[in-house]
Amino acid sequence: MNLVVVSNRVSRGKANEPMTGGLAAALLPVVEKSGAIWVGSSGRVREGAHKEPFAEIEALGAGALAMLDLPAAHYGGYYEGFANSALWPALHSRTDLIRTSQDDYFSYREVNAFMAKALLRFQKSETAFWIQDYHFLALGAELRDLGVKQPIGFFLHTPWPDRAVIGGVPHHRELVEAMLAYNLIGFQTQDDCDNFIDYLSQDLGLDVENRVVTSRYGTSQVKVFPIGIDPQKFAEQAVKAFSHPDVSRLRRSLHGEKLAIGVDRLDYSKGLVNRVNAFDRMWTQQPALARAVSLLQIATPSRGAIEAYGNLQSELAKLVSDVNGRHGEVDWTPIRYLNKGFSQTVLAGLYRTAQVGVVTPLHDGMNLVAKEYVAAQNPADPGVLVLSKFAGAANELDTALLVNPHDIDGMARTIATAVSMSLAERRMRWEAMMAKLHSGTIQQWFTDFVDALQETQFDKAGCEPVVVESPTLWPLRSANSNARYH
Ligand code: F6P
Repeated sequence: MNLVVVSNRVSRGKANEPMTGGLAAALLPVVEKSGAIWVGSSGRVREGAHKEPFAEIEALGAGALAMLDLPAAHYGGYYEGFANSALWPALHSRTDLIRTSQDDYFSYREVNAFMAKALLRFQKSETAFWIQDYHFLALGAELRDLGVKQPIGFFLHTPWPDRAVIGGVPHHRELVEAMLAYNLIGFQTQDDCDNFIDYLSQDLGLDVENRVVTSRYGTSQVKVFPIGIDPQKFAEQAVKAFSHPDVSRLRRSLHGEKLAIGVDRLDYSKGLVNRVNAFDRMWTQQPALARAVSLLQIATPSRGAIEAYGNLQSELAKLVSDVNGRHGEVDWTPIRYLNKGFSQTVLAGLYRTAQVGVVTPLHDGMNLVAKEYVAAQNPADPGVLVLSKFAGAANELDTALLVNPHDIDGMARTIATAVSMSLAERRMRWEAMMAKLHSGTIQQWFTDFVDALQETQFDKAGCEPVVVESPTLWPLRSANSNARYH
């Protein structure tokens, strides 16, 4: 099978480059090994909708990476507008932060249609397409409109919330109907899967039997595929990173004091304000912990042009400064707050240096930082993971210290517990988590999804593969009316 993987953000695979977001970091090693073609946005835009789209193609392991310049006229409406100011807030149960327009939706659909046309270039008779994440909910339907009959799978890296919350997304019905063009729809957790099925039956009135739904596109299977990491590789990276300059400097700066670490995109779903408040509360209520434990919070900016993100950045900077002002000493800074990204290798070393990992999102699809923190630990002296029960990872990492990120006092107490936990308990909890990581690796996730996608071919009676003889559909045709979008 010839696999084409599609995501908005891609990674070029340079080991020492910072990576933003779990998706690109997770996909990189498996895509490299699989020989798939990975198609995504170059992060650049191109003027002139009628000109030929530009794709930079380079080798990536056994396969290739194709980075497309997206249409300048629609990029903002697609990425900042609909994907990240309508879908993202709703998928993370923050419908109060939805700020979008009809034009944004039009641009979102245009970019999905643009990507579909671009993908025809990579289509062969035995091709299967695997589309990633909420940026491309309608891409499968666009491919079907272009006559593609090969298997198309979709995996959502974020949560899928309750149907009432999805109902807050403008055009939700049309989008979910479009998703049924996918043969296989994968979610991170059983709750996400159940919420989606609930929407299909209650809002669309469709019959779903054994997690298979029938629509005008044929059948779609809905299934859970919890994403993992490569724990062995990450552990090796953590050991190797011990002597990296950033990691040794951090170690030297601690003077025997304990360290808690948080690594997140600067996003309101990550619960950063609550986390900083919890540390503030802990140092206030347990002054003995001042100087005994500090927090290193890496918060990598993304989507900075969106108001909610700009507001969060200002709020957090002020809060960290207040907390440092309140608890700091001439020779002690409670919170080291960094707004930049680090490579996976350096992160592995930083995680291993920290006695506590704090991963406390308000809502998260999986959260691979939680898994990476565990994998990076020294087996003889592992750190403690403090994990939000609203992260998908909590389903597997149930021997972490699970917290409610809305309960600031509870979090403060749990962080203090983590700091003083005995070696025996730390090892017992860590070993159980490592066993889970080894039984659900990223390689397994990839293989399970691709196998399930291939199997869907046999369910699609009458769907003969379409072979495009030459990539003549490459030039972009732009729609001149938005009448097709309701
Ligand atoms: O994991 C969720 C996700 O939105 C990915 O789709 C994305 O690659 C990552 O977070 C980073 O987000 P962005 O590319 O918008 O900075």
